[in-house]
Amino acid sequence: MIPQDTIAKIFDTSDIVEVISDFVNLKKSGANFKGLSPFSNEKTPSFMVSPGKRIFKDFSSGKGGNVVTFLMEHEHLSYPEALKWLAKKYNIEIQEEAPSDEQLEEKNKREGLFLAHQFANDFFTKQLNETDEGQSIGLSYFKKRGYHKQTIENFNLGYSPEKWNALAEKAANEKYNLDALVEAGIVKKNEKGYYDFFRGRVIFPIQNLTGRIIGFGARTLRTDKNVAKYFNSPESSIYNKSQVLYGLYQSKNQIIKDDICYLVEGYTDVISLHHNGVKNVVASSGTSLTEGQIRLIKRFTNNIVILYDGDAAGISASFRGVDMILKEGLNVKIILFPDGEDPDSYAHKLEQEEFQKFLKENQEDFITFKSNQLLEKSKNDPISISNTINDIITTIAVIPDPVSRSVYIKSTSQKFQLDEQLLINEVQKKLKSKFSSNTTSFNTPISQPQTLVPKKGFEKGIKHKLDNQEKDLIRLMVSYGAKSIPIEIQNENGEKTEEEYPLAQFIIEEILTDNLSYTNSKFQQIFNEYVDGLENGLLVNDQHFIQQPDLTSLIVDLTTSENILSHNWIDKHHIQTRTESKRLKQAAVESVFIYKLRVTENLILEKQELLKTTENKREERGILEEIQELIKVRNIFAGELGITITQ
Ligand code: CTP
Ligand code: MN
Repeated sequence: MIPQDTIAKIFDTSDIVEVISDFVNLKKSGANFKGLSPFSNEKTPSFMVSPGKRIFKDFSSGKGGNVVTFLMEHEHLSYPEALKWLAKKYNIEIQEEAPSDEQLEEKNKREGLFLAHQFANDFFTKQLNETDEGQSIGLSYFKKRGYHKQTIENFNLGYSPEKWNALAEKAANEKYNLDALVEAGIVKKNEKGYYDFFRGRVIFPIQNLTGRIIGFGARTLRTDKNVAKYFNSPESSIYNKSQVLYGLYQSKNQIIKDDICYLVEGYTDVISLHHNGVKNVVASSGTSLTEGQIRLIKRFTNNIVILYDGDAAGISASFRGVDMILKEGLNVKIILFPDGEDPDSYAHKLEQEEFQKFLKENQEDFITFKSNQLLEKSKNDPISISNTINDIITTIAVIPDPVSRSVYIKSTSQKFQLDEQLLINEVQKKLKSKFSSNTTSFNTPISQPQTLVPKKGFEKGIKHKLDNQEKDLIRLMVSYGAKSIPIEIQNENGEKTEEEYPLAQFIIEEILTDNLSYTNSKFQQIFNEYVDGLENGLLVNDQHFIQQPDLTSLIVDLTTSENILSHNWIDKHHIQTRTESKRLKQAAVESVFIYKLRVTENLILEKQELLKTTENKREERGILEEIQELIKVRNIFAGELGITITQ
């Protein structure tokens, strides 16, 4: 645990331009720095660093964040690793906080689990390599599968003997802590005593990113259908199945080098591919692919190629995988294997070069893959074609990056000879219905005030989505919260005076007075932190949010714009930009009023709905009066905004 004030010190000391210059050639451009994106192969620079805001934004890949985020993205570091990297660069000493008793106990427990796995694995590998039983049964099985000594060592493969308590007995004899082995599910206990769970099986240890063993997969050598083929370790405090990929420890360097990660189903597929020279491969064994696993891959590459069996189960698993991978903003391709083959068998069948050639030449994009699969049985059936197109459109709509979306739309339109605009509209429809429930993705950075003055007053019968208004208020607070704006204040005697108010405070008071709350939880979180700050007499600034890992990218998106890139143009032409701060007051007031107008309109609508279901005359009159009041309020807001309402 790095103490909070050390984290603050690291952020304060780190110079984002200096740090990024270690990796990217930056040139000054107006108040900012510009360079070629380190995340793509672009020719014209669209990578921007703002020393003032202490953020970077890469307009070609969409990545953006603070100095720590940059190191995490570029150097594939975890959050604490990135902080430590900076601490080292700037000679900041990190004195890790003394852990509490509870933390200490938890740490000891975890350490005990790690050691138990290591203890067991030492035993299993020794059994495999040095005992008669291990060699004649386990080792000969691996040899039969075609694994060489080096592969067996590289993956720490082992063998658990038939004897019912071989490991448990050894542990007892050596006075080793049996509890940890039981906790790990390696040793079990019944009324007769302790016994080995994996006995009579070959062992595939599962390693975390640093190479420590955190679980086992154990395969039976019997062909009896009644025996479960694999026994797998249960989850534990060191083994969270949805966050682990088999083979990642052995493959991560090659994944970075090749900038591609192959994804297969199981232990044996990973090992066979390694064995045949393909060393950038992982498996989501034990679970179906999870979001956590995709994000894990994302630390090393943006390109995933799925290699599953061509059987029905394999194909439907690929479909699920494709959508999940695209949703996380990664690129995905699929390779189907010839009938009856899987990655494991095929890797053994082909020579190394042939196999690598096969992998290179048989990657399909998801549009080709999906249409081939879905259309296979019913080539000319119009309903099936239209279902397929719909399926593909649904998938395209999950892709967060608009540029990639349009590339895929184009290729779909070519493949099915459909009008591109028609497809764009369909994707747009899906996006709209998605964004009404999900509001975390913003692709519209703005630098000019975005007070969306509504053209029309009130569309009958439709409740407003408040997201844009909420976003705009937060954007103003984060970008200009500390700037002063003149506000008219009436004292008790009715005299008006003008006072300078920080913009954030003005917005907060306006929202609090009317007891409003945001519908978007991230915005509400930011708002609450402003309020907390003000209650302690302190105005939080954008850095406060930019340094919070879960808010960084949202704040960067809200406060940056591609316009910044054309700063040169402005410099060159000596154009006096009308800066937003000059129009701040107007922007803030408009933004607040539009928000309140929308809220009021929604309230009116709710009351009108209520009216329809009310039968009691007295209640009805009450509601009508409320509606009249609300309409008055609405008209005041509309009047202030210069909107005429016809109704
Ligand atoms: N798997 C599992 N539990 C099972 C069956 C399979 O966890 N009961 C996982 C394993 O990760 C395995 C992968 O699914 O590696 C693929 O299964 P399968 O091909 O049946 O396993 P193999 O050991 O490769 O068997 P075979 O030699 O028949 O291909
Ligand atoms: Mn297999």
